[in-house]
Amino acid sequence: MSAQSPSSLPLFPSEPVGQGSESPQAPELSAAERIRQLREQIVFHAHQYYVLDAPQLPDADYDVLYQALEALEAAHPELITPDSPTQRVIGQVLPDFEPVRHAVPMLSIKTETDTTPAGAQAFDARIRRELALGEGDPPVAYVAELKFDGLAMSLRYEDGMLVQAATRGDGETGENVTQNIRGIRQIPLRLHASGLAVPPVLEVRGEVYMRRDDFEALNARQRDAGGKTFVNPRNAAAGAVRQLDPAIARQRPLSFFAYGVGEVTQQADGGPAFETHYGLLQALKAWGLPVAGQTEQVAGSEGLADFHLRIGAERDRLPYDIDGVVYKVDALELQRQLGFVSREPRWAVAHKYPAQEQTTTVLGIDIQVGRTGKLTPVARLQPVFVGGVTVTNATLHNRFELRRKRVRVGDLVIVRRAGDVIPEVVGSVPQPGGRPAYVPNFPMPEVCPVCGSQVVRQRGEVAYRCTGGLFCAAQRKQALLHFAQRRALDIEGLGEKLVDQLVDGDIVKVLPDIYRLGLSSLSALDRMADKSAQNVLAALEKSKSTTLPRFLFGLGIPNVGESTAKDLAKHFGLLDRVMDATTEQLLEVNDVGPIVAGSLRTFFEQAHNREVVEQLRACGVHWPEQEPVRAPALPLAGLTFVITGTLPTLSRDEAKDRLEAAGAKVAGSVSKKTSFVVAGEEAGSKLAKAQELGIPVLDEQGMLDKLA
Ligand code: IVH
Repeated sequence: MSAQSPSSLPLFPSEPVGQGSESPQAPELSAAERIRQLREQIVFHAHQYYVLDAPQLPDADYDVLYQALEALEAAHPELITPDSPTQRVIGQVLPDFEPVRHAVPMLSIKTETDTTPAGAQAFDARIRRELALGEGDPPVAYVAELKFDGLAMSLRYEDGMLVQAATRGDGETGENVTQNIRGIRQIPLRLHASGLAVPPVLEVRGEVYMRRDDFEALNARQRDAGGKTFVNPRNAAAGAVRQLDPAIARQRPLSFFAYGVGEVTQQADGGPAFETHYGLLQALKAWGLPVAGQTEQVAGSEGLADFHLRIGAERDRLPYDIDGVVYKVDALELQRQLGFVSREPRWAVAHKYPAQEQTTTVLGIDIQVGRTGKLTPVARLQPVFVGGVTVTNATLHNRFELRRKRVRVGDLVIVRRAGDVIPEVVGSVPQPGGRPAYVPNFPMPEVCPVCGSQVVRQRGEVAYRCTGGLFCAAQRKQALLHFAQRRALDIEGLGEKLVDQLVDGDIVKVLPDIYRLGLSSLSALDRMADKSAQNVLAALEKSKSTTLPRFLFGLGIPNVGESTAKDLAKHFGLLDRVMDATTEQLLEVNDVGPIVAGSLRTFFEQAHNREVVEQLRACGVHWPEQEPVRAPALPLAGLTFVITGTLPTLSRDEAKDRLEAAGAKVAGSVSKKTSFVVAGEEAGSKLAKAQELGIPVLDEQGMLDKLA
């Protein structure tokens, strides 16, 4: 990022990218010259924003430049050129895409399917063998890149101007999608002038993709408009690229990364000669093309394996999908020596990660009843290996999701498991012949499939819930497992299988019954030898000495997670005080809002819940009782301030320190939650926002008065 704050930059920086320093507003400038300057400025700032992710200008100021250019061009249509930033989206609905023969074929690369580090070793060993390198020879220099999950694109620049964009097609012939690709703002319509001369013909090869946030936003818009949603960012990107109506294509936000070249002709004087693939990528970057930051020069198989591991750990945090990494021999001379096998270069390989998405068949749809009675439709699946594990069930979240995704028994569906997230059904894959036969929509049951109690849906809530409470075996099981989990009472050995038997056999009817279990009742159960029964009893005994936060969390009060339980314990010190606290008293606790306070009140107002607590205590569950740890009351505790503009005497940091010392929070942006905005001179949009939301505005003195 730029060290300068955007607002301290002049609207028309005097010298971005080799630009003259005269004021663009000078009246003597010809329209042509003014247009030229505006274009340079717009291209410069768009590149900072879209490619380098380092904007130097507030959006509103950028809009001013853009509108000025539009107005001038409207007055002088003869001065419009195809590389003008206003000319990204042009064209008519096409009947079809016209075929494009690639000057240099677009090849694919071999895939290393062993997703462990051995995959990197296998590639390196092959390269060393081909190059006849011995053990004593140094490690081979590689470039390691991300393998973007989008679609391959070839961008043809002639004398620096983008003249054509083509899909890969069969590798020899693709489709002319120039009209849609021009709309991708990361792709320069004209290559930037840099120290390096631009070759007369330069074909840039890379991947068009859709960022995950853009994909989510697109799907949300499609849903709101009652339109078709897309199953994943790659399908959405492919659809956008091949959209015949440029007006529709424009609404589908695409991005691009360059990773190589196709045809490159030399300058008459020889032009830039590249020795390495990495050097080539740096040149593409200098010409204004986006190259992924995670592109590294690494040495030997260790360097490759290390890259694979690091990117694997980072993968879920990237803003876009990747399905692996790509290794390329760095030296172009060695690439030439290695050549091709059939249609694949010997010098490159794709090293995959376990797929996060797979297709499989829905065998059935079951309803699972959770700890709070929530009914969740779950797809029973033909077992499938995805995200590194075999998945047999995947959540469908709720009835609305189920409807929206149109999932029915017998469908082929895409299952996704990313990171540690629970597997989910992304959507159905339409089959050529349509659905095999009529299958009705899956209805949510009217009674609980486990206990037969009535199922209700509270107004404003998405979830359907069983009203059976702890009478419902499913809820009882989940409540027990929750109580016994490591972060709650930590009862080792009280797992799913044992809990199933205890509840199904009516041995445990209420939570405290677990502390009434005896050796004989336990060892009579399936797969319970005397020894394991004794272990469970010992674990139960041990769990009785606990802490108040663990106990509170273990009760499974809706909306009371571990951290809330800790805050409650810290604030009240004693359980009885938590149980008897009024809503107002609860709201005084750090991070407790009306919803959590409401849950706590409802829970402790029920006589049967208080009874459970008493019985657990009577069974010997105990914790050190402590007096509450209370922060000394600070005058501004619970208030949020936003500082904007220049204050007369205090620097922003000083003002922030003073506010925080008085217990206030200081936030960077104004929202409904802001209590006060402190505004100094030249306060800008934050002040406007405060006024819009009706948030009180203080000057420095006003703020100091609050601190007094
Ligand atoms: S290099 C001759 N590098 O993966 C080498 N391809 O079969 C040409 N891909 O669909 C490909 N990221 O679009 C290369 N960093 C990367 C890539 C990449 C994604 C795609 C490519 C093609 C497939 C390769």
